[in-house]
Amino acid sequence: MANDEVTGGSLKQQLAKLFEESLRITVPEELDVDPAIAPCQNPKFGDYQCNNAMGLWSKVKGKSTQFKGPQPIGQAIMKNLPASEMVDSCSIAGPGFVNVVLSRQWIAKSIQKMLVDGIEAWAPKLPVKRAVVDFSSPNIAKEMHVGHLRSTIIGDTLARMLEYSNVEVLRRNHVGDWGTQFGMLIEYLFEKFPSGEVASDQAIGDLETFYKASKQRFDSDPAFKERAQRAVVSLQAGEEKYRKAWAHICEISRRGYEKVYQRLGVHLEEKGESFYNPYIPGALELLSKQGLIEESEGARVIFIEGKNIPLIVVKKDGGYNYASTDLAALWYRLNEEKAEWIIYVTDVGQREHFEMFFTAAKRAGWLPAEENKYPKASHVGFGLVLGEDGKRFRTRSTETVKLVDLLDEAKSKCKAALIERGKAKEWTEEELEKTAEAVGYGAVKYADLKNNRTTNYTFSFDQMLNDKGNTAVYLLYAHARICSIIRKSGKDIEELKKTGTIDLVHPDERTLGLHLLQFAEVVEEACTNLLPNVLCEYLYNLSEDFTRFYTNCQVVGSAEETSRLLLCEATAVVMRKCFHLLGITPVYKI
Ligand code: ARG
Repeated sequence: MANDEVTGGSLKQQLAKLFEESLRITVPEELDVDPAIAPCQNPKFGDYQCNNAMGLWSKVKGKSTQFKGPQPIGQAIMKNLPASEMVDSCSIAGPGFVNVVLSRQWIAKSIQKMLVDGIEAWAPKLPVKRAVVDFSSPNIAKEMHVGHLRSTIIGDTLARMLEYSNVEVLRRNHVGDWGTQFGMLIEYLFEKFPSGEVASDQAIGDLETFYKASKQRFDSDPAFKERAQRAVVSLQAGEEKYRKAWAHICEISRRGYEKVYQRLGVHLEEKGESFYNPYIPGALELLSKQGLIEESEGARVIFIEGKNIPLIVVKKDGGYNYASTDLAALWYRLNEEKAEWIIYVTDVGQREHFEMFFTAAKRAGWLPAEENKYPKASHVGFGLVLGEDGKRFRTRSTETVKLVDLLDEAKSKCKAALIERGKAKEWTEEELEKTAEAVGYGAVKYADLKNNRTTNYTFSFDQMLNDKGNTAVYLLYAHARICSIIRKSGKDIEELKKTGTIDLVHPDERTLGLHLLQFAEVVEEACTNLLPNVLCEYLYNLSEDFTRFYTNCQVVGSAEETSRLLLCEATAVVMRKCFHLLGITPVYKI
């Protein structure tokens, strides 16, 4: 059967399908072998290679009389490959690697089809329908810090990539809105406003200062401490006055971090720790019935193999904690929300916590023991944000970073740069503002996302706002330049999409075309491994491939103008989708 379809999964998946057919014919006795397809290390040999021959040889060696070594197996895989429009030619290298040169006509046709059908047609297919992304999740009354900013940026991108892949994503803000600190906060609120009137935001002022002041009272005055502890009990018992004070404190805090989300264009649904509180007894009961929970030094705990310290699920004083809440939330997400993939985005410092409670959930049979089975829980850990001095990031003025100020600073620096380039004369004030926002916030996001998330990263305005190198500024400008090439050609690109054809004659055109076509598999890899930096790297390389093409191939006024304009448009479309997935707003002119 000829496999001429240009739709149906990423380029890599389509090739894998072809090789799968060949493997079935070549080694019918080894049905469980999956095709091993990878891009060629050296483009001299081809575009992709099939690496199955060696592995198959070690399986059939001694059993098969048909093959005398890995190379003949490779030969047979090549011979049995079904005819396809995709493939231009194949060759064998070394011990049976099958190299594939893709057909440039097929690459061109696939890109043209995307231009007509839209880039949604390139969405990868993932094995899950619904996922929870638990991200951002600041703690009430404490200032949201750069760690939460990282979580917000990384989590939003992961959610966007999954959404693009047609996964329904429940974006959850697991805010720390419960716990003993509320006793102290409420008591302090009552002390400052004894008449019981609800304090205005101004009266509470900066919540962080409020938190510190109440903590100081708590630590220095035993009578206050006792009242605070009683307040926790009253709150948990649902006493009206205490509930109200709690809700009020939460609301002020919420208004603070909403400002950050609004700037970043991030949407989340808040289901804080308090939401899961009623589910804790039931969840623990289930675990208890399975004999997972034991008594230890007055607390109730789950022992985890290989860990010295058990997971505490009920404290000595009978109270619940972070772990009990997370167990209840996991139960809720699996059973009530029917999520198949639950993704937690926090700093790597919490790795142990997640490892332990995932293990407990596996032992309880809530999650399968096998790594690659669903439902699955994944911890997406990230490193610290460092200042240019190499220490934990802090701004000069305050101890912790005021995120809103930080984002505003990025924006105003961008605006100043635009004004310096004379844009204030060319553009309206609104255009200036919008561009400064897109570039400024985009720069903060991209600087974070481009690193492998597990490493620490250094926050530097100078670096992230540089218009050269691997920065959002450079990439956004590159996109705007492509748009201006198309605009200046004076051609109607929508019309060209319908009537024109792409032909990838020049080697730099072919390289760019192939790179465009690899978009789907890159998003798939970034999703599967939860690594946004994979997408950033793709985007940066795309813009480099484009630059090479544009330097060596004349576009406007050339004989190949139509084809090349379409290639420009396809590059712009893919770049915009990358920006979208990274939560960056594209700009169209500079
Ligand atoms: N509030 C926590 C913190 O600031 C993060 C919560 C992460 N989510 C979770 N389900 N544990 O560290």
